[in-house]
Amino acid sequence: MAEESKSSLDALSALCKRRGFIYHSSEIYGGMPGFWDYGPLGCELKANVKQAWWQFTVRGREDVAGLDATIIMHPKIWKASGHLDTFADPMTMCKDCKKLMRADQVKDIYADQKKKPQPKVAGSDFFCPYCGGELTEPKPFNLMFKTVVGPIDDPSNVAYLRPETAQAIFAQFLNVTATSRMAVPYGIAQMGKSFRNEVTPRNYTFRSREFEQMELEFFIRPDEAVELQYGHVVTLADNPDLNGPVQDDWGWEVWHKYWVEQRKKFLNAVGLPTEKFVEYWQKPDELAHYARACVDIEYDFPFGRQELEGIAARSDFDLSQHQLHSKVPQTVFDDPLKQACKKLTDDDKAAFIAKTQAEWLDWKQKAASAKAGKEVVFSDEEKADIAAKAKVFCENLFDGKYVPHVIEPSAGVDRLMLALLCEAYEEQKLTDEKGKEDIRTVLHFNPKVAPVKVAIFPLIKKDEAQYKLARDIFTKLQKKVNCQWDVSGAIGRRYRRQDEAGTPWCITVDEQSTKDGTFTVRERDSMEQRRMSYGEFLAMMYEALEF
Ligand code: GLY
Repeated sequence: MAEESKSSLDALSALCKRRGFIYHSSEIYGGMPGFWDYGPLGCELKANVKQAWWQFTVRGREDVAGLDATIIMHPKIWKASGHLDTFADPMTMCKDCKKLMRADQVKDIYADQKKKPQPKVAGSDFFCPYCGGELTEPKPFNLMFKTVVGPIDDPSNVAYLRPETAQAIFAQFLNVTATSRMAVPYGIAQMGKSFRNEVTPRNYTFRSREFEQMELEFFIRPDEAVELQYGHVVTLADNPDLNGPVQDDWGWEVWHKYWVEQRKKFLNAVGLPTEKFVEYWQKPDELAHYARACVDIEYDFPFGRQELEGIAARSDFDLSQHQLHSKVPQTVFDDPLKQACKKLTDDDKAAFIAKTQAEWLDWKQKAASAKAGKEVVFSDEEKADIAAKAKVFCENLFDGKYVPHVIEPSAGVDRLMLALLCEAYEEQKLTDEKGKEDIRTVLHFNPKVAPVKVAIFPLIKKDEAQYKLARDIFTKLQKKVNCQWDVSGAIGRRYRRQDEAGTPWCITVDEQSTKDGTFTVRERDSMEQRRMSYGEFLAMMYEALEF
């Protein structure tokens, strides 16, 4: 009987270092806070997580195309997106020990301290969590890393390392639309490095300064276009089937919920049980400036419940911003919409414009009130501006033109890897038949993401026939999946080494193997052994690896 115990982050990080999953970056020079390297097992895990995401999000669908854009892009992109002006955290500094920290994390850092300081200024509740000193007034600190392009170090040559992959997708929207021959609703996906100059990187790899994202921008028609074309908009109140094929008459709320469900399916498929994550629907006053709605999928990390990924409904904010700043129209032409609008009378159109103007005013006023925390009533001038924009918008729709809206599922590779490691890690207390106790450390990775899929051993390495057959099997399997060869030590020790790496199957070639070609397959989680032929093993393995 195994007595199970879940580890702390310390035990997990020790295993990650010891087995080559994660190292401090530049460790021989003392490391760099917020930068981490993935070792031999870590980089395999990472490649598998990314491949799984790409398969699920891009290759496994007919309505998503891929993109691989540069990290450094035209700096105007970050002006248009709002990152240059608003992508900042509130930073404070201790006047005594000079430590810098995020003002909104002071209480969390204090809670983490073993020796808790008293405030040096009596009665203060905003004091340095390290030494009790007085803190400066918080100031916004922009999180983008700056660099200079070309040999001349001049402000006109300043560029930024991208803080999200999303903006490249918006900037290439027209090209991908033209070359992929896809029409809205459809998505563009990208994986790649992003950079945020976090004031206080914390919690192991959870909040790193250099990290990798997997983002999908799924472009949809504005609800008004759906209504004009289909005469109705399907909302969540209509109880749509989110597990069946996607439907053209879905409104943005349904698309948003659909992608929340898709993301949960993906997390489940790579090894996070549904009951281990929760959906957090952001409140109106918590939403980012671009979002109409946002759901965080949160996971219970050892350091608390934290966001694993976010699914935001970003309306047409991004494409409209790029249209404004680049002066390049970001509209698509939707012929079926134009044909549907040809049937409308002038009265129908006027009524549609009036209804849209009222809806926009109501929605924008509610959003502004939620942000302000009190009722906001727009001035006549502001109301006239909204009405004029709504009218132009409707007239473009009647011509079959609109700027698409977007739903954005945005995931962090490193965060997901950390969640998978936390979920997989187990220290089992085993007692053998003689009553001897032992700890078995095991990573219960789903085979789809496991860094090593199969380990192959000859039972007796000095037995030439066994050695040769095992080597043949290893060479054949190595062409298909990541394998390890191990001849060192007793077979039990070899199994334990693979348990720590999270290898789902160990193949042992024994005397019987040399007679009939079968071998034993030891399954990591049950520790059971089954005798199989090579063909049987391949069929079982491929079934487990398939998405
Ligand atoms: N694109 C959303 C994010 O990076 O958080």
